[in-house]
Amino acid sequence: MSDAPYQVTGLKRGVTRYPNYDAAILGFRNYWYPAMRSSDLGHKPVALTLFGEKIMFYRDQGRACALEDRCPHRGIRLSIGKQEFPGTFTCRYHGWTFDLKTGLVVAALTDGPKSPVCGRAGVVVYPVEERAGLVWIYHGESPAPPIDWDVPGELLHKDRAVGIRISDRPGDWRHAAENGFDEGHGKYLHRDSIFVTFQHPPAWVHSDVIAEDDGWITRSTKDFAFQDDYPGLGRWPKMRRWKTTKILSRASIRLPGTLRIHFGEWIHFEWYVPTTPGRHRYIQLAIKHARGLDALLFKLRYWTYLRWLFHGRFNDQDARVVEMMETPPEQLFGPDRSIIGWRKLAEKARVIAGGEPAAASAPPSRTETGSTQQFVSEES
Ligand code: FES
Ligand code: FE
Repeated sequence: MSDAPYQVTGLKRGVTRYPNYDAAILGFRNYWYPAMRSSDLGHKPVALTLFGEKIMFYRDQGRACALEDRCPHRGIRLSIGKQEFPGTFTCRYHGWTFDLKTGLVVAALTDGPKSPVCGRAGVVVYPVEERAGLVWIYHGESPAPPIDWDVPGELLHKDRAVGIRISDRPGDWRHAAENGFDEGHGKYLHRDSIFVTFQHPPAWVHSDVIAEDDGWITRSTKDFAFQDDYPGLGRWPKMRRWKTTKILSRASIRLPGTLRIHFGEWIHFEWYVPTTPGRHRYIQLAIKHARGLDALLFKLRYWTYLRWLFHGRFNDQDARVVEMMETPPEQLFGPDRSIIGWRKLAEKARVIAGGEPAAASAPPSRTETGSTQQFVSEES
């Protein structure tokens, strides 16, 4: 049985062949996720909700960090506070001051320097790293696996030009991921997009899902037609003179919800980071391995039309349907083999053997009572 209200698969609510996937309302634990652009994180806190948890991002002495965005004293958001001392952050209400590395209270300013609260209360600190112009956060049990397990190798190439677009969207992250890897809709939903004005998408593609290195599964084309006869109806689609390029894209997906599409000399990535039930943060990244003038020209290309026409209008067509999708019930057809492949992969999501149910450094207790009650940090 799944957690029925947010189940996404199957013929009937309450009955699922993908129990892990259907239970992953707020995403899979034990993965690194991109959260925001590195360039958007400065000396001003950024408050986000990810995986159902309120999280404050902050840059201290050049280093990105992330804390539970809730002061344990009276429960207000830490992110409205400010920095009084390097390496710390102070709550706006009564001045409890938290060490940014451990999350522990190092001073309660309005209780004097000898406050007994020091060392006895704190907030969760999340593992954070920066790669490829993005701030990444680890969501799951400790110890965190190496971030390079979850950052696609293409992003670590030293010569690269990158364009990033981030939006918070309605829609379940699993519907967004399934839409991303869906074989069928690219040939119909996007057919009138300005981005493909000069391209001719196929009428249909039959594909298999194949496993590749580094945890990717890929749609592998077996058969296709750019135009075909539909009995009793006629030929479809119309071949347009100005559509000079015939396209067959190569799409792959891997956990925890990372899509990769090869467009020849550049690659598109997207992530569906769960925020609250039924919503997600949609992170798109276009990358070309290039340097010098070539890199500059790709940046120019990104900012003049790829961002607008592809990351914007084309993928906004997806946003509309992802928001509308209501399953179960669902009736799948042949092209949905891709979706089934992804669901099967998702059932094998990572488990950290013997992991602790906490972020990197959970403080020992909440101190409102001074008790030794264990600090529960990441239950979603
Ligand atoms: Fe944060 Fe009181 S609520 S110090
Ligand atoms: Fe699409």
